[in-house]
Amino acid sequence: MQDNKMSEQVFQSPNKKGRIAVFLSGRGSNFKAIHDAILSGTIKGEIVLVFSNKKEALGLKIAQERNLETIYLDPKKFESREAYDQTVIDAVKQRNTDLICLAGYMKILTPLFCNEFKNRIMNIHPALLPAFPGLHVQQKAIDWGVRYSGATVHFVTADVDMGPIILQAVVPVLQGDTEETLSERILKQEHKIYPEAVRLYFEGRLEVQGRQVTIK
Ligand code: GRF
Repeated sequence: MQDNKMSEQVFQSPNKKGRIAVFLSGRGSNFKAIHDAILSGTIKGEIVLVFSNKKEALGLKIAQERNLETIYLDPKKFESREAYDQTVIDAVKQRNTDLICLAGYMKILTPLFCNEFKNRIMNIHPALLPAFPGLHVQQKAIDWGVRYSGATVHFVTADVDMGPIILQAVVPVLQGDTEETLSERILKQEHKIYPEAVRLYFEGRLEVQGRQVTIK
């Protein structure tokens, strides 16, 4: 309980250029948004690694075209999820990474991994958490008939999609929306709030207290 009350500033050296590892499994549009924000000078940081559990991830190809270091590891070659994550932890640490950005990384991180990088892993989720955790959440929002959905950037804990919320953006769910049209509307917001959250992080402006993130 006491622990929960202690506030933790999550990045202690705002004058340093932050080192980011991006984890992805697919097309990589959020990765691109973060990298573009770095290239334009909005985020004071650099991407030191783009990691994937999927060999064919389009995001890996984009990263290579952008001359970023990439690593792919095949989960089938490891005897356990922990063994896989330990290898990834080592790769992340070797690069002195400050922040890990999950950007469509479709593999659940083990508690081993999450505890190693407390308040140093972010994720983007295409719904207004804590509503609609999990997968296919745009379709679920339509099926529930909610009037609004959106996107959430949050810190990652072992409790999937339930870590402290950093930023959210709201979009309307329109009559006649399909999974595709709603996903597209949400994705535009994802590309705004994810780089924004990373910027705030490296400016040392985020403080975590229990479930709550304060922006200073
Ligand atoms: C996004 O919808 C994100 O919210 C979710 O996975 C998708 C990744 O898309 N976690 P992209 O690979 O960044 O284009």
